[in-house]
Amino acid sequence: MASVEGRGRARSCEGKRTPAAMASPGGLRRLLWCVAIVVLFYGAEFGAAWKEAEFRKCHQSKFCKDVRERAAAWARGESHREIEVREISLKDGRVAARLVPAGNEDEALVLELSTYRDGIVRVKVVEETAPRKRFEVPQVVVNDFEEKRLGIGSIGRRDGASVVQLSGGFEVVIQHKPFQVQVKRGDDLVLSINSKNLFDIQHLQVKKEGDDWEDSFRSHNDKRPHGPQTVSFDVSFHGSDHVYGIPERATSFALKPTKGANINSEPYRLFNLDVFEYLDESPFGLYGSIPVMVSHSKKRTVGFFLLNAAEMQIDVLAPGWEQVGIEQVSDESSSGKRSTGQNEEKRVDTHWIAESGVFDAFLFVGPSPKDVVAQYCSVTGTSAIPQLFSTAYHQCRWNYKDEADVAGVDAGFDEHDIPYDTIWLDIEHTDGKKYFTWDKNLFPNPKEMQNKIGAKGRHMVTIVDPHVKRDDNFPLHKEASSYGYYVKDSSGKDFDGWCWPGASSYLDMLSPEVRSWWATKFSYSNYVGSTPILYIWNDMNEPSVFNGPETTMPKDAIHYGGVEHRDLHNAYGYYYHMASVQGLYQRERGTDRPFVLSRAFFAGTQKIGAIWTGDNTADWGHIRVSVPMLLTLGMTGIANAGADVGGFFGNPDPEMLTRWYQLGTYYPFFRGHGHLDTKRREPWLFGEPYTSLMRQAISARYQILPYVYTLFKEASVTGIPLVRPLWMEFPEDESTFTRDDEFLLGPSLLVHGVYSEGAKSEKVYFPGNETWYDVKSGATFPGGKEVEIPVTLDSGIPVYQRAGSIIPKKLRHRRSSTQMQNDPYTLVVALDSKYEAEGELYIDDGKSYEFEQGAFIHRRFKFAKGKLTSTNLAPTKSNPKKFTSSCLVERIVIMGVRARDLVTGKHAVVESEDRWIQTDIGAPSLIQGAYSSALILRLPNVRIADDWSIKLG
Ligand code: GLC
Repeated sequence: MASVEGRGRARSCEGKRTPAAMASPGGLRRLLWCVAIVVLFYGAEFGAAWKEAEFRKCHQSKFCKDVRERAAAWARGESHREIEVREISLKDGRVAARLVPAGNEDEALVLELSTYRDGIVRVKVVEETAPRKRFEVPQVVVNDFEEKRLGIGSIGRRDGASVVQLSGGFEVVIQHKPFQVQVKRGDDLVLSINSKNLFDIQHLQVKKEGDDWEDSFRSHNDKRPHGPQTVSFDVSFHGSDHVYGIPERATSFALKPTKGANINSEPYRLFNLDVFEYLDESPFGLYGSIPVMVSHSKKRTVGFFLLNAAEMQIDVLAPGWEQVGIEQVSDESSSGKRSTGQNEEKRVDTHWIAESGVFDAFLFVGPSPKDVVAQYCSVTGTSAIPQLFSTAYHQCRWNYKDEADVAGVDAGFDEHDIPYDTIWLDIEHTDGKKYFTWDKNLFPNPKEMQNKIGAKGRHMVTIVDPHVKRDDNFPLHKEASSYGYYVKDSSGKDFDGWCWPGASSYLDMLSPEVRSWWATKFSYSNYVGSTPILYIWNDMNEPSVFNGPETTMPKDAIHYGGVEHRDLHNAYGYYYHMASVQGLYQRERGTDRPFVLSRAFFAGTQKIGAIWTGDNTADWGHIRVSVPMLLTLGMTGIANAGADVGGFFGNPDPEMLTRWYQLGTYYPFFRGHGHLDTKRREPWLFGEPYTSLMRQAISARYQILPYVYTLFKEASVTGIPLVRPLWMEFPEDESTFTRDDEFLLGPSLLVHGVYSEGAKSEKVYFPGNETWYDVKSGATFPGGKEVEIPVTLDSGIPVYQRAGSIIPKKLRHRRSSTQMQNDPYTLVVALDSKYEAEGELYIDDGKSYEFEQGAFIHRRFKFAKGKLTSTNLAPTKSNPKKFTSSCLVERIVIMGVRARDLVTGKHAVVESEDRWIQTDIGAPSLIQGAYSSALILRLPNVRIADDWSIKLG
């Protein structure tokens, strides 16, 4: 890892030494507190990077250690344990069954299995009787999900099992003895639950004299007042070698086994944490959690989702896993039982351990990768369609110091002719880290500042974190404490933790009332100094608590309805994000799409807004790992995500920064950001050739905005992400299954970053059987091959357009996306071997919800038989609202034309108007470079909104 200058936690204190903070009466006292806290919690380690010891390993948590060991013992056959289905029937179109574990009637469970349209099965299992109700995570499953339920008409019987038919040739088989749920297609087993007999719900107990339930880690004690309550089970993905998903972690896209004959690593952990200086090659869980796993093989893709927000630990098992950690294994026990996966069948076995909550699982039968994402998103919601401006470039830094600094950066972009849309203000803009306030010395005229930015069609984002400064002069705090809106500690007092402002309390975002109250805080009258161009950044919402166990809230803290923090930890940030989004929505009375970036996330976050991958580092490994991180997020529904371009910690050298911009061009969310202690890094500070190259990279993003926005629209309808693994488009191409150094942006652009200093070449794999066109030179590469592509800093990173695609672009260079609104389009057509291509374009006002009432344009372009045709894809029924555009197509670039058509001066004809247009070869004015082998139709001037066809002469 590169040497790191930034020390986030130290800054939490130093940052307070602003004149305003120090002038306040409690300034010195707080500073002393701050020093004490830093010494206490960072002690001798302070200054070192990644502090592994601060985070809990599986064996340091009672629940994880117990279950992991017990499961291995069961698998070795050391104790016989079987769950049996005792009764099974149909109730209201659902399967209802009674499960009895190990003959123990007192611990009977009830199972409910329902089927839904589009290949979704939901299986819930809870205790039949229990001393208290387990927590079920609200607000994640979309409201209308139950409308998709298919009533089950009958249960079939086969070989002592119960069978429910699904559509598409799939069926669910419930085996009775031992209990097992299988999804099958014909004779093919697709997915199974409990095929390893590890299903176990620890029955809730009432504490008895002598029960020792407490658990401690470092100086923190967890009272665990409800005792052991884990939900653990095995899920197997059959016919497959690879599983993906369960973000967030900075590691490979295909998940490596954690336990096996020679493998004994930590399980993958889902526990939202603010991990200081995370490593770029570590399975350690980070800021967000999505308990979704997907497996893919040539034949099919299948997915599994556990709706549970408690800490979760997941092992991916390899053969021999049950022997791990056992020193003495008798021959008898090892030969007596087959190790998982040692049979011939291809399969991936996984073991899931949730500390508490319920077993509420969703199975997605696929069969294609896109089907699985769409199935998952039909449960948890598709992506919110972002405002157009937010899909362009964002400039951020901790911190733009004052109004003059903001004006200077804004002017710098203009002076250097670099487009950008949004400038961000981090925590230092506030009065002593009291969110919704401004530091009056540094930002005396926030409205005027925003008006100036807004006059150029640009926007501003300010940070609003969930910790509230415990300052009696802060009205927000006074209100929240008097209303009882804070999370309580285990003794019932307002939880008091340490974060950027010093002593802080945390709003109880599980409570709908608190969320509604919070939403009102974003109104113009409450957020004084805000204007309509101001949007929001939610950070530290894991939540981050500097003096809490593992830098977060103790699990025995108490929320609304008496729910323990343990039960909802992974969804806390989600509820907070949701309330902030609601605030912006209400601010504009539902006429403006909110933009709120969040660091923490959970299943369903995609329907609320964007996320970013947190505090990465300026080194090559972090550029590289951003790709599998975004691939994983996309596969688990989060289409709108990005990594800090340039790396948050440390100082990127100009080459690294340039390379990062070249890759960031293709991130769904594209923002440059850096730590307070890093050197300034606005793109013009590095001289030539770097400034020009960064300008080119950012401009390239602006050029493809019509394509990117169309992809966001698709994600909002289907859930299919922008950043796609190669196998999402080429499911049968096995060489793509473990490939995560390149990705597809939408169906048509193949992007391969450059991940090392002074790189001279990159090995690019071209998937499928079709040709790929270099977006700059038009050079072609056949699919199904890996090719070593020479690279220079000037050449940018390797990017290719897929044969058979048409990409809409806007090539005129402007200051921001809003200024491109009336610009003409260029259509880039890449012909396939059939001499055909097609593509789509979606346009709306980029801002409001009028598209919901039909105010949008949706076109389909098709090139076939030497003719390019534009047809309408939008429904033609009469719509209450309309959106029109008078934008023209100013250029059509056709790559892959035959030699006989590749002639300058030939003509093409706009058929509907019987008008001839000129053709040409190459286009030196294109910023992306000259298409030396492309035919250019100049100024066809057909309207983008109209039906038309143009035939090559
Ligand atoms: C956290 C965020 C980072 C931000 C900083 C100060 O570390 O991840 O992006 O700049 O806090 O607010």
